[in-house]
Amino acid sequence: MKKVILFADTGIDDSIALIYALKNPDIDLKAVVAGYGNIDRDRSARNAAYLLKLAGRTDIPVILGSTRPLSGETPVFFPDIHGEEGLGPISPPMSAEPFARRTNFTKLFQVIKQNLEDITIVNVGRCTSLAMAWYLSPEVMKLVKDTYLMGGAFLEPGNVTEVAEANFYGDPQSADFVCQNAPNLTIIPLNVTRDALLTPALIDFIDTRADTPLLKLIKPILDFYYDAYQELEPGIAGTPQHDVSALVAATEIPGMFSYVKKRVKVDDRDGYAEGISIADFRPGTPECTGTGCARIASTLDIERFTAHLLDILTKE
Ligand code: BDR
Ligand code: CA
Repeated sequence: MKKVILFADTGIDDSIALIYALKNPDIDLKAVVAGYGNIDRDRSARNAAYLLKLAGRTDIPVILGSTRPLSGETPVFFPDIHGEEGLGPISPPMSAEPFARRTNFTKLFQVIKQNLEDITIVNVGRCTSLAMAWYLSPEVMKLVKDTYLMGGAFLEPGNVTEVAEANFYGDPQSADFVCQNAPNLTIIPLNVTRDALLTPALIDFIDTRADTPLLKLIKPILDFYYDAYQELEPGIAGTPQHDVSALVAATEIPGMFSYVKKRVKVDDRDGYAEGISIADFRPGTPECTGTGCARIASTLDIERFTAHLLDILTKE
């Protein structure tokens, strides 16, 4: 069983990732670090806590992550894609009920130390909270076994700009820091996750099996996300499941993804290329090794991915 700490900006696809983590018997979710990104940090933490409460898992701590990028700039949120509250049409109350225990980085370091060298971090939002954890306690972060990031776009267009993907663009300094420093790093980029589509028919199928308040949330939030994507990319066949892809990768199902090993640089300078992820894809470039060398996903077996996701989300 993988012991996972999920770093998320708990919008719609992050929520699907969280639900997947809770339902997958091969994942033992130890904590959620909720930061800004799709929405502000407090909404992100509230949403994570709300989902955990619906799942009856208030034992899992929600750690308050970062509120803005390392540059100090005011972040831009994405209500058109994720809804004002980050859960499409659903708005859980902000503070009427403390859905789950919200705590700070001390808890994060405790969880890592308690599970010595057996923690996998999966980061599916901006990289700020993760970079902060490294700045605050590199000796504890070195105990993390491996790290998975959903972010970047290689040899293909971005989503938030022509060249940059939203998680890396939102805090390129942090993204670059994590790429240079996290050992055993795997990156699941946008050029792979944009094909991980859940069609409306599959969403309806999941809904027919949804027998808990947590699972009943899937259809309304994904219907909202689908409508938002139709505005962005008219005619798209479904909703891209960016974030859950990184968690699926972390379960290391043989053959699900293929990878190349490359050093990655994220451009953190102002300008057209801000947030772009660069690796050397020239033919004949040798594979790298060691810290600073990431495994970058280059393909995903979409049929198997879809079948696996449906299996987990509709499991009794
Ligand atoms: C990523 O950006 C966020 O909007 C999504 O939740 C996902 O993590 C996709 O670029
Ligand atoms: Ca996300």
